[in-house]
Amino acid sequence: MSSYDVIIIGSGPGGYVCAIRCAQLGLKTACVEGRETLGGTCLNIGCIPSKALLHASHMLHEAEHNFAKMGLKGKTQSVDWPTMQGYKDDVIGQNTKGIEFLFKKNKIDWLKGWGSIPEAGKVKVGDDVHEAKHIIIASGSEPSSLPGITIDEKIVVTSEGALSLPKIPKKMVVIGAGVIGLELGSVYARLGTEVQVIEYLDHITPGMDAEVSRTFQRLLQKQGLSFTMGAAVQSVETLKTKAKVTYKLRKDDSEATVDADVVLVATGRKPYTDGLGLGELGVVMTDRGQIQTDAHWATNVKGIYAIGDCITGPMLAHKAEDEGMAVAEVIAGKHGHVNYGAIPGVIYTHPEVANVGATEETLKAAGHAYKVGKFSFMGNGRAKANFAGDGFVKILADKETDRILGAHIIGPMAGDLIHEICVAMEFGASAQDLALTCHAHPTYSEAVREAALACGDGAIHA
Ligand code: NAI
Repeated sequence: MSSYDVIIIGSGPGGYVCAIRCAQLGLKTACVEGRETLGGTCLNIGCIPSKALLHASHMLHEAEHNFAKMGLKGKTQSVDWPTMQGYKDDVIGQNTKGIEFLFKKNKIDWLKGWGSIPEAGKVKVGDDVHEAKHIIIASGSEPSSLPGITIDEKIVVTSEGALSLPKIPKKMVVIGAGVIGLELGSVYARLGTEVQVIEYLDHITPGMDAEVSRTFQRLLQKQGLSFTMGAAVQSVETLKTKAKVTYKLRKDDSEATVDADVVLVATGRKPYTDGLGLGELGVVMTDRGQIQTDAHWATNVKGIYAIGDCITGPMLAHKAEDEGMAVAEVIAGKHGHVNYGAIPGVIYTHPEVANVGATEETLKAAGHAYKVGKFSFMGNGRAKANFAGDGFVKILADKETDRILGAHIIGPMAGDLIHEICVAMEFGASAQDLALTCHAHPTYSEAVREAALACGDGAIHA
């Protein structure tokens, strides 16, 4: 039996970042992981591999649509799917090995196997029981399907199967117009698949600023994705090599059926806490199956904490990372803190979509007086040069104080641009603070400054 200050269960972005921070703070740390490689869903079957396929398919899109316009002519590109899969697997390998290296460098023990907590202060991995003063559960989440749908990860797939299809399908039905459905739907649409997205609501990307959501849907339609909105999927029947998807339109209850080679079920994720023994321990859960924690990520059982997708809040890798660092600091006697009001969200399609803070809808609902500063990428020289003029930056600021309350970007590199606004919000900045900050020319970032200027006396290039 070995003894640790901290044992973390799960090595996804929440768990591995937490482990590194604990080690940096002088705590003797181990991390339990049952997968063959570290990094959890994000590195193995989520964020990282999907970004590799998004990058490769975007390059193809550029070659097909924009190269000739710039005078780049010659052999047309074609897709070698096994090589693209190999590239993706290589990217996964480099990243997961990177975590293994960081564990060694920080003297973190990797306890290989699936962990459970037989009692507070003890973690069982295989036949070994280890002692820990503090246990942090970072066990993540898993896809949640719909009743009446059986996932086989071949024809009816989750995001995991969709990343490793044996061949590029001719027709794909995506159930759910959320982040996963639109990112992976984009990948296959660019690779030549006919993609039909079936969504229960009347708009895509629930919770997103409505104006961004409408623009986003229009741009995706231009790229060839088709949308069936207000449609509740009822069942998916798998035949030998195909599936039949039946849905009901909410407006008139009429039913329709479509065929597909592959059906991607992207209707959300749920916390993964199976086998941890939380019921026997008496750990309090929410009615949505999440582990209930207090403001310091502590559960009701002394010495047991939880972070990331298995607790409340957005299921985002970076939210889990922040919680991982903060709980490590709390355990080390420091003041770990996460500002949940400034966590960005990004969809890595093309164009990218990013947001932070309040939407116009939430501000209206709260009766908060605000002003809007908006700037189109059409007015940004760099974007025009790069065929990236679609989209805009929108900054929402308090009507009286000018303090930034939220921002919504659809356009080139939106996922990077948003961080300027996150930093501004962390410092309680006003839109004028951003507007008065010199921005290099020509950059996409100038569009952020212009949106900030538009909150005041006006943007220059509008
Ligand atoms: P989601 O919650 O974003 O979207 C699910 C969609 O499915 C919703 O629009 C919902 O209305 C629809 N839906 C549900 N039942 C339906 C039915 N019967 N028929 C038709 N439509 C139906 O879930 P998603 O995309 O699966 O993502 C899961 C989680 O993973 C999210 O929390 C997301 O934030 C996270 N994620 C984040 C990424 C990123 O930050 N880039 C990438 C991938 C996942």
